[in-house]
Amino acid sequence: MTIKTRAIGAPISRLDGPEKVRGVARYAYEHPVTDPTYLYAIQSEVARGRITKVDTTKAEAQPGVVAVMTYKNAPRLASTEDAEFAILQSPEINFRGEFIGGVIATTFEAARYAASLVEVTCEEADHDADFRAGRDDLYAPDKLNAGFETDTDRGDVDAGLAEAAYVVDETYVTPREHNNPMEPHATTAVWTDEGVTLYESTQGVFWAQSAVAPLFDLDPEQVRVISPHVGGGFGSKGLPHANVVLATMAAKMVAGRPVKFTLTRQQMFAVAGYRTPTIQNLRLGADAEGKLTAVVQNVVEQTSRIKEFAEQTGTAARMMYASENIRTTHRLAALDVAVPSWMRAPGEAPGMFALESAMDELAGKVGMDPVEFRIRNEPEADPETGLPFSSRGLVECLREGARLFGWERRSPEPGTQREGEWLVGYGVASSVYPVYVMPGSVARITATPDGKFDVAIGAADIGTGTWTTLTQIAADALDTDFEDVTVEIGDSSLPKGSGAGGSSGITSWGSTIVAAAGKLREELEGEHGGIIPESGLEVSAKMPRNPHRKDYAMYAFGSQFAEVHVNEYTGELRVPRLTGTFACGRIVNAKTARSQFLGGMTFGLSMALHEESNLDPRFGHVMNHDLAEYHVPVNADIGELDVAWIDEEDPYVNEMGTKGIGEIGIVGTAAAIANAVYNATGKRVRELPIKPDKLL
Ligand code: MOS
Repeated sequence: MTIKTRAIGAPISRLDGPEKVRGVARYAYEHPVTDPTYLYAIQSEVARGRITKVDTTKAEAQPGVVAVMTYKNAPRLASTEDAEFAILQSPEINFRGEFIGGVIATTFEAARYAASLVEVTCEEADHDADFRAGRDDLYAPDKLNAGFETDTDRGDVDAGLAEAAYVVDETYVTPREHNNPMEPHATTAVWTDEGVTLYESTQGVFWAQSAVAPLFDLDPEQVRVISPHVGGGFGSKGLPHANVVLATMAAKMVAGRPVKFTLTRQQMFAVAGYRTPTIQNLRLGADAEGKLTAVVQNVVEQTSRIKEFAEQTGTAARMMYASENIRTTHRLAALDVAVPSWMRAPGEAPGMFALESAMDELAGKVGMDPVEFRIRNEPEADPETGLPFSSRGLVECLREGARLFGWERRSPEPGTQREGEWLVGYGVASSVYPVYVMPGSVARITATPDGKFDVAIGAADIGTGTWTTLTQIAADALDTDFEDVTVEIGDSSLPKGSGAGGSSGITSWGSTIVAAAGKLREELEGEHGGIIPESGLEVSAKMPRNPHRKDYAMYAFGSQFAEVHVNEYTGELRVPRLTGTFACGRIVNAKTARSQFLGGMTFGLSMALHEESNLDPRFGHVMNHDLAEYHVPVNADIGELDVAWIDEEDPYVNEMGTKGIGEIGIVGTAAAIANAVYNATGKRVRELPIKPDKLL
């Protein structure tokens, strides 16, 4: 089924823009409540051990303090199975920065000051927070994030490497990184006899609901989660973290009085998720014609001893290029650290840095242009499953990107282009991201006799433009004007919506809305002769099953081109230009889509040059835990970003023909920049971020 194109594709400005610009859009912490209290978290100062003594008397004596919460008096959780959530249930300490208490007071300042007066004595135990490849306790998890197999081994990679005319065998390292959305993780929680209401900064109101309800022995409906506006998440507000548990506990403790809770920027570095560091050994072989004879990606990464998160770092290598022989492995070090989690393009972002750097190295050895080398290894079908691709725009993105960027001006010989004391280099890398879909969404559409439609689905807009794009999709599916449609999202009292994660939102919510719209139009035509009855008309529909899902490999693709300038005396690195070209099916909104790609590429540049969380293994904490020392780019760091996409028709991915676009923009960017640095200087940097000391 194809729907009529009218609103879809239009560069419509976001509907929530005026509210946000005027400062009246309400974020989690800002929801007005009567007589609020403020919670300030107390965190462990040791990386492992047990609390032997807590003295709260000084804190409790402070003016404004309502309650001091520790493991001794905190509400008991109905389940402690998820150790990340099982805070304040015992004196045990599992990692540095873990929540061990909280102060509730009538002002934020009073709570924060009183928290500093709570005296906690600990018996410290040995801890291990030292991430490195050579550990003898690395283990293979059962599965990776998103359900991927831990290891794959097709063909005979050893034979493939033995017969190769050219081999690359190198190790690539990516650092721990923190998501750092602009809005910190925050909750306004109100506990009543009926249950709890959480104004929550979350990527999924139902994800938050299903985490909280069982912990507090509540039915899901008793946990109302409201999240109309979210100041970014980048994955860190996807899988819930312990902050929402602490806020709910506090609300229960002072039942009846609302509690406001926000993490400080520094606390976000301790408890709200982060990207695992990775150490990746890549072995690629190519024959004399530049055809890959083997692809091996062996990944070592980190998890927490208390809860496993296994990033799917090597999965892109399974499907990216044609080779008979492909092996990928993942091994984890379980450490006394906070639980790693999703961060924009988990898996692809670090994994494709390594693969696309290695591909550049191998192209150099073969003596081929890196664009042509990739095209030569374009597979006919998915190398992993043998399935045809529903659509695969990589070659077109590489060719079109090369044209837009001016790739023909690149000198194949490293270190031969310069402008004064600046060495100039060009680099390329591929992008990829799977077309994920999340089950379980339901959309309700209500038509009123004035020809207006209300569309309700518990989806999320985390700054991406969901509100606007779902209105566009609904308008087209209902065959009506954009102005006639109102969309309601971000509230668990609405019909169930999956969360914003894995770039799956538009596919999942959009196809649900299209199904509901189809049902509504059918009823309207069938039973009502095309006239909306006086009493209105309401239908609900579940997300339809995609009959093509098992017959095709479904991915979005892209190319990233980078120009870098490296100062030959100081090692200063500038990126004056990036060109990203994407093949992501049909683009729903040309304006908000462009913003997604721009944001992704900026995030990728940030990964290439700036971001790195430095953990001190002696104490187990991230030392550079603020935005003064954890660098993200500012305007002056970003040059010209060109974004383009090719019009791709994919009849198999879903009814709209869309693929997710939230994450692909970051994939490959860092490799394109590293490859450009090599082209500029002849220095191959295999460890991110690329800082001047690595170039001198
Ligand atoms: Mo996004 S990192 O899939 O929440």
